[in-house]
Amino acid sequence: MPVRLGVIGAGGIAGEHLSSLTSVANASVVAITDLDPEACRRRQERFQIPQIAPTDEALLAIDLDAVLVCTPTFTHRDMVVQAARTGKHIFCEKPMARTLTEADRMIEACERHGVGLMIGFVRRFCPEWGAFKSLVEQGLLGRPIVWRMVYASGGPSSPWYMDRAQGAGPFLDGMVHNYDFCRYAFGEAVDVRSTMVRLKPSTTALDTGTTTLTFESGDQHVIVGSWGLPAGCHSPGIHDALGPDGVLSFHDLDNDPGEVNTSTHGYFVIRRDGNTRQVYPFRKENMFVKEMQYFVDAVERGEKPKPDGVDGRKALEIALRVLGEM
Ligand SMILES: NC(=O)c1ccc[n+]([C@@H]2O[C@H](COP(=O)([O-])OP(=O)(O)OC[C@H]3O[C@@H](n4cnc5c(N)ncnc54)[C@H](O)[C@@H]3O)[C@@H](O)[C@H]2O)c1
Repeated sequence: MPVRLGVIGAGGIAGEHLSSLTSVANASVVAITDLDPEACRRRQERFQIPQIAPTDEALLAIDLDAVLVCTPTFTHRDMVVQAARTGKHIFCEKPMARTLTEADRMIEACERHGVGLMIGFVRRFCPEWGAFKSLVEQGLLGRPIVWRMVYASGGPSSPWYMDRAQGAGPFLDGMVHNYDFCRYAFGEAVDVRSTMVRLKPSTTALDTGTTTLTFESGDQHVIVGSWGLPAGCHSPGIHDALGPDGVLSFHDLDNDPGEVNTSTHGYFVIRRDGNTRQVYPFRKENMFVKEMQYFVDAVERGEKPKPDGVDGRKALEIALRVLGEM
């Protein structure tokens, strides 16, 4: 019997997960719901989903093993608490919640009802970031490292992302992936510093800023980021990691990848003494498919999946420090 799933929310990320689930043989999507019935119909048609539930409550009344919570961040608490009450295992998109009080309520409800709660930190399943972690652990750059990310764009189109109370902008919504990944790779955060600013007067979230995070390992993550550019506008950005023994570039597209087959592999370039250059390939894989396969397997085996609510809360706490809310 395949694992029976329901999907709450039929927006952008739900589409990604539904597409991934077509490659997960032991999963069956039984029902979907959204405040927007047209969004449900589009997903139903594209992915042949048997049932559209008119409300969240109606979806949770169906006999399902697990649900995917794919609604905006500020709705996650209510969705997760209701789903836990009906005994469903839960995959909840990141960020786990908008506040720590909401996160605590979600953790408590899942514990009380004995259901698993996985948070969608998909970067833990990303072959590129996984290979980066492994190269750092092998000591190829020396330690400590400074992982630098400079990026800017106009941000996502749904308005709730840039509402301070609902999505809280890039340093919660987007960068929570990085905070979680740093905890996974470098241990707990021991120091958080940041300066935030708002470029777009039309939104309430802080859309731009700089943050420096230091972790137990001594490694640092520096982010200079913005969703404050005009819609559709992107900066080329910087993405690298500095260490005492060299520098690793994430996207060294100006350089010859040598023998690497770039249709099946991505690659990093590391430069060391005298600017000597070495290419490190990794196999490309779809991180969203790996994430869904892992969640479905955990539900099938009756195991509690990771990253869990406690991981979600810890990453959220870093975000709230970055935003100056703690
Ligand atoms: N893991 C990732 O890489 C990733 C990427 C994008 C978004 N996300 C996260 O996924 C979540 C959703 O993001 P999105 O981009 O899909 O948003 P979206 O705005 O594209 O879609 C959200 C959908 O939820 C529906 N909705 C809102 N309230 C609802 C309710 N009470 N009941 C049922 N449906 C409701 C909306 O009508 C909309 O269709 C957010 O938490 C976001 O941060 C994660």
